[in-house]
Amino acid sequence: MEAPIQLPGTTDRRALHAALLPQVRALIEGETDMIAAMANVAAAIHGAFQWHWVGFYRVIGNELVLGPFQGPIACVRIALGKGVCGTAWKEDRVLVVPDVDLFPGHIACSALSRSEIVVPIHDRSGRVFAVLDIDSSALDDFGTADVEGLMGIRHLMEQLP
Ligand code: SME
Repeated sequence: MEAPIQLPGTTDRRALHAALLPQVRALIEGETDMIAAMANVAAAIHGAFQWHWVGFYRVIGNELVLGPFQGPIACVRIALGKGVCGTAWKEDRVLVVPDVDLFPGHIACSALSRSEIVVPIHDRSGRVFAVLDIDSSALDDFGTADVEGLMGIRHLMEQLP
């Protein structure tokens, strides 16, 4: 079967994000099951960039709980304010960590992770209901193009019914 996702044969981040966004839109548009949407978004991002770990943690009660992801096994529960994910959730802001070893309280799910980006995702009332977490095995791997590209994907997810 032909791969449903066709991306340009380039390592240019901006070009890859630009190609990925409409494909993610087509994948999740109108989807009412957020877990199904998360599963395909994680797979699409992972497929496009080959990052070490791409996935979601969902806010359930007072902690983050592991959701759909692509990559090695990961920690299941993260408390508010703990690690990069718990901090991004608590502070409701995108966190880019160029060197995870220098982030106080970083939760090392995999020794191969060197840099990380976490993007909070909001429900209609503006509350964070999940975070998108991406780990790279390369140091300082995430830049402006990634932040902007992932903002676009977040926006699509925040529009879901
Ligand atoms: N490193 C994250 C934990 C999640 S795993 O990387 C998949 C953190 O510090 O929040």
